[in-house]
Amino acid sequence: MASQTIPTEPFAGQRPGTSGLRKKVTVFTQPHYLENFVQSLFDVLNATAADGRALSGQTLVLGGDGRFHNRVAVQTILKLAAGNGVARVLLGRGGIFSTPAVSAVIRRRQAFGGIVLSASHNPGGPDGDFGIKYNAGNGGPANETLTEAVYARTQGLRELRSSDAPDIDIDRLGLQQLDDMVVEVIDPVADYAAVMRELFDFDLLRGMFQRGFRVRVDAMNAVGGPYAKAILEGELGAPAGTVVNAEPLEDFGGLHPDPNPVNAEDLIAHMQRPDAPDFGAAMDGDADRNMVVGRNFVVSPSDSLALMTAHAGLIPGYKDGLLGVARSMPTSAAVDRVAKAMGLPCFETPTGWKFFGNLLDDGKVTLCGEESYGTGSDHVREKDGLWAVLFWINLVAASGKSVEALVRELWTAHGRCVYSRHDYEAIPTDKADTLMAGLRAALPSLPGTTVAGCAIALADDFAYTDPVDGSVSQKQGIRVILTDRSRVVFRLSGTGTEGATLRVYLERHEPDATRHDLEAQTALQPLVALAETLAHIRTLTNMDKPTVMT
Ligand code: G1P
Ligand code: ZN
Repeated sequence: MASQTIPTEPFAGQRPGTSGLRKKVTVFTQPHYLENFVQSLFDVLNATAADGRALSGQTLVLGGDGRFHNRVAVQTILKLAAGNGVARVLLGRGGIFSTPAVSAVIRRRQAFGGIVLSASHNPGGPDGDFGIKYNAGNGGPANETLTEAVYARTQGLRELRSSDAPDIDIDRLGLQQLDDMVVEVIDPVADYAAVMRELFDFDLLRGMFQRGFRVRVDAMNAVGGPYAKAILEGELGAPAGTVVNAEPLEDFGGLHPDPNPVNAEDLIAHMQRPDAPDFGAAMDGDADRNMVVGRNFVVSPSDSLALMTAHAGLIPGYKDGLLGVARSMPTSAAVDRVAKAMGLPCFETPTGWKFFGNLLDDGKVTLCGEESYGTGSDHVREKDGLWAVLFWINLVAASGKSVEALVRELWTAHGRCVYSRHDYEAIPTDKADTLMAGLRAALPSLPGTTVAGCAIALADDFAYTDPVDGSVSQKQGIRVILTDRSRVVFRLSGTGTEGATLRVYLERHEPDATRHDLEAQTALQPLVALAETLAHIRTLTNMDKPTVMT
């Protein structure tokens, strides 16, 4: 068997979005589509390694969330890796790895980088989505320079270098040879579990479960299942059945593996029953997102980050204090208030986990999070769903307080950031572009005016200068901030695969601790009206309400 050179044609549309290249399975299964992207990636990694290290002769980590096409794609990538001089691939058994687990394995084993096969929270199956993403040696998503270089390379690629060896057995643990390359099939959970053991008080948690503490974790038929089962039920002694929908299925059993109250309605229903468990959570397709639910009480992701910051000292892995915290721009300012009270630096970055990487690597922050059900810390360079679940359970155990009591305490201390995100999905791309262009054109005239009864203090298109490497990211979302610091943010999704998705983020701060039962959608109505007046969403999209409100 040997490596062969296969002529190919470039594909025009291989530009990765917020989190890698995501397309319909039917796009990925076109001849050479996946191959072109992977060959381009390998060419760039072999040619332009900024630190002088090339991929050839090194170790790569490989695995995905088990969705439809995962197993086929793994074989394709292994053969390309062998054809491009990779010395060793650490492959999760069955081609499986959660996104945070890939990050953990890259870091613990000091691999050159890793490839994650996932379209995260997007539906799977033959008609669903597939995706691929490269993570660098720090365990985090590739930066924009590398991503752009790979994209440029896909535009001119003319040949693939691939092994013609037969498929290997990806379900058998241990070493196998693929031409000159070694494939080591490893337990996808082991390294990740070792990291969790270092951070959390497993003895305390075991005791909690022994005393009857009840948890329901909904893995949504996605890759988080095996991880949650091994750690919660296996190691911590939670009763069997604590983790539900625990078997990763190629189409997620038809569920939309995006943990929000709409998609995880079964969990919400369980948490509202009279016999509800003490703690509930759900994770997404690749297990990097989390939603935390108490008895009859849903925690907003922005509040979750603020609360974790406030109580990090109770968790063994963070007992010495935090270096700082970071949130994405559309995430609410709840964490800013907590950070200020604690005297911690707080950074505001564009949307997407990759922007946290430099801050974490440089020791500027320990915790970070996004409004989109993502929280994480410096233990890996991805957001981490099960980590957040363990953090919360550890917090409940160490404080002796319920989820709801903890959040209400936070609101009493810092006021409440009433928050909602309205998504308008599958808008024709030209309509979405017109809407954003109209908003951008209006920005300079807005500050100092009153629109739809709202007094506007500031209006801009968020730009970010990375405090570590000085790189500038422009046009990261339009912010309209009112004199009382309420705000509306508009941005287009970078992860959708059908037309454009407009996200409208609404936030209002309510200082009065007696008004904690405010219903968010009602309380945010003036901001919804402002958004409509500024952006003409209804007229331009022909949609009279959002597709999803979280
Ligand atoms: C979405 C979320 C963003 C998250 C990303 C990847 O991106 O909004 O916070 O980092 O998924 O999970 P978007 O579709 O908004 O570009
Ligand atoms: Zn995800």
